[in-house]
Formats: sequence, C-alpha cells, structure tokens
Amino acid sequence: MSYLPVKRLFSAPSDEEVEARGWIYRARSSGAIVFLVLRDSTGIIQVTVKKGNLPDQEFEAARGVTVESSVMVRGRLFDDKRAPGGKEMRASGFTVVGSAQTFPITEYQSEELLLDHRHLWIRSREQTAVMKIKAAAMAGARDWLKENDFTEVTPPVLTTNACEGGTTLFKLKYFDRDAYLSQSAQMYLEALIFSLDRVYSITPSFRAEKSRTTRHLTEYWHLELEEAWVDYRGNMDIQEQMVSAMVEGVLKNAGEELAVVRKDIEPLKAIVPPFKRVTYSQAVDMLNGQGYELGWGCDLGAPEERALTAEETVPVFVTNYPKECKAFYMKEDADDPRTYACADLLAPSGFGEIIGGSERETDLNKLVARMQEQDICMEPYEWYLDLRRYGSVPHSGFGLGVERVVKFICGLEHIRDAVPFPRTVSRVYP
Ligand code: 4AD
Ligand code: MG
Repeated sequence: MSYLPVKRLFSAPSDEEVEARGWIYRARSSGAIVFLVLRDSTGIIQVTVKKGNLPDQEFEAARGVTVESSVMVRGRLFDDKRAPGGKEMRASGFTVVGSAQTFPITEYQSEELLLDHRHLWIRSREQTAVMKIKAAAMAGARDWLKENDFTEVTPPVLTTNACEGGTTLFKLKYFDRDAYLSQSAQMYLEALIFSLDRVYSITPSFRAEKSRTTRHLTEYWHLELEEAWVDYRGNMDIQEQMVSAMVEGVLKNAGEELAVVRKDIEPLKAIVPPFKRVTYSQAVDMLNGQGYELGWGCDLGAPEERALTAEETVPVFVTNYPKECKAFYMKEDADDPRTYACADLLAPSGFGEIIGGSERETDLNKLVARMQEQDICMEPYEWYLDLRRYGSVPHSGFGLGVERVVKFICGLEHIRDAVPFPRTVSRVYP
C-alpha cells in the first residue's frame, strides 16, 4: 500500500515520511498554520500544515479545504500531548482529491434531517462503529457455523409462499402472476437439509409492518439455520452457542468500536451458555405475579418481553407457546399438545425477542389438518408438503434478526441505526 491507514500512523517511525488518505473531519486555520483532523475508516489524527514546509500552492489548498473533502497528505509523525492519540502529522505535501461543498450535516441535527442525509451520515464515527460491530458479529456467527459443519446456502428472495402469515407480505407483480418478497427462508432451508443436513443462510427478509416501533424494519437481515435430526431442545443449544460466538466475535475484534457506542461493555461478557429456559406457562405465571392479567393463550408482546428479561443478565428462552400464538409449521409438543415444541430467545435487560425458532411438524396429516383449519390455500405449499412425503426426518431451525442483535450489542435506542439504509413504514429513501 502506498499510504498508511490512520490507525497505523500512530506507530509510524518519526524519521520517515509517510502518506495518509482520508476525509477532513475538522479544519481551522490561524495565520501561517492550518490545523486539520483527518478521518478514515480506522480513526482520526491531527494534521498541521505550516507555510514554508510545503509548496505554497499546497499550503493554500490546505487553508481553503472544507470539511468532508477527500485529501492525500504526506508528512512525518511527531509526539504531541494535546493531539488526539498523542501524535500529530506535520505535512510536507497536501492534495485535495475531491473538494466538498458545505456539508449539510453539522452538530445537533434533527433525526429527520439525518435520515434524509443517511448516505452522508453513515460517515459519522458512531455509524462507522456500528457497521464494524455488525460485521464482527456476522463474522463471529459464520466462523462458529463453519466450525460446526453448517453449509451456507442461498435461498430465493422472490417467492410464492407466506411463511409468517399473510398480513405482513409485500406483494409484487411477477410477470403475469403474483409473488412476494420473502419473509423467511425457512421453508427452502427445510428442503435443503435433505442434501446438506445442516444449513444456514443470511438474506434480507421483508415484513410489511405498519407499526412504528423501535424494533421493526420492513427490510432486515435474517440469519436462518435448519438442522436435520435435532429437536427443539438441541436447537436451543445451537442458538446459545452461536449467539455467544457473535458477542465474543465483537468483543474480540471490535472492542474499540464498542467503546464508541456504549459506556459499559461488562454486561456483554456475561453472554455465555447456558442461557435461561422457561416455559410460556411459567412466564405467564411470573408476569401475573407482577400484576399483569394475562390469560393462557395471550401472545407476549414487547412490554411482557421487557418485564420478563428486565432483571436478567443472560438471554432467556421462552418455550412451548400456545399453538394459537405461532405459525402452522411448528411441531406439536408431545408432552403438552396445546403447545408447540418451539422457543423464542429474548435478550436480557428488558431487550426482548432476537430469535424465533422451533422443531418442525413432520406429520403430513397434522400439517394438512392445521392448514385447513387456518384456511391456508394448499396449492403454493404442495412442494413444502412433498418434504413430508419423501423421506422426512425430525428437524429444527430458527431465524435471528441481525439488526435486533446489533441493536442489543450496541445498546442502540432504535433498530434503524443497526442498518446503513433503514427501510421502515415511512422511509425507503435514500
Ligand atoms: O419470529 P420470526 O417471524 O420467525 C421466522 O421468520 C421463522 N420462519 C424463522 C425460522 O425459523 N427460520 O422472525 C425471526 C426473527 C425475529 O426473532 C426477529 O429477531 C427478526 O427475525 N425479525 C425482525 N427484525 C427486524 N424487523 C422486523 N420487522 C422483524 N421481524 C422479525
Ligand atoms: Mg417471532
């Protein structure tokens, strides 16, 4: 590389001239000295440009440089206690590559303005840190999955099936017929275990959620996994290991970025197996003990999930939801046939759902009867039912909302900050 990333400048020898490239983070001049702060993906560094140390034309370019202009700077590194990180670069060469007009984002902007200028706001240090944390979390998951013999697969995003119910489907014209944007890759992953045993995919999922909440996007990244020969308990074992590996990946590889977005990283160190497991019935009793008045069969919403996990330090699995709360494809629990062999994983400290998972119903007759009860049109699911007709096996899987996990790890207030270009009910630009 002909230039050094900003982070590497801090360890560059002071007797050697080096080059840096990046964007102007701050600029101020006083007479014959220009004080700049240069930013790149790895950090920021102070740069001083002094008349006489470089050609006049280059000094003038530095004096006129605007915030967010892209530049190339040559110079040497010197200790300076007042500079961020204790070093500054003294320029012997300065070139503006792309001059910036007056940057529309200054300090203290409204949330709306920042969202309208998202393509520029993603340059901010917080957003940069979140994106790196997300990448570290996803790499942590992929590493764990590889070590545990899962094959990454690529299911379709255009589909004719509703996996998670018809109310949140984005419908589109597919030539002369109707199709949908995928809500979940699950059914395709179920088909893929017959050749690959253990599979996962990371795809966008789409939910036409009209509700404005701090935990719903209309497009989100979905990490889904399916495994043959595993029941819903084994499925939970996999989840707690994989989620722990994601957090560990962030602690190990994005520690500096974590420090940018949250004050205290100690709570993350407690995210190790085993996680807590309670049944839905126990959860309802606990909630009613706190003054809720929930009947058996009511679904648990955000307030209930918050109450259940407020005092917890590890994630909590809530198992065996009543059938009326969950989707038709889940396996009826043999020990309590009013419920499914399923679990939602709730993150601690009041955070709420990050994973939905279950063992899948393999009994063709039960599956068909349930679909008929729920008035589900069979035709688009014939291929799915074939999976029960040709060598079915016990199997389980789950879906993890990547932005939900990133929101939790970073301690973000709103899920939209866990994705560079958020799509919500009110936003599809930029
Ligand atoms: O609980 P859900 O709807 O489950 C499924 O889609 C299953 N078919 C997954 C599977 O078994 N393969 O969604 C799974 C996860 C949720 O726990 C949540 O983390 C996330 O996806 N999620 C959303 N994230 C952001 N915005 C939304 N609108 C989301 N809806 C679900
Ligand atoms: Mg769910």
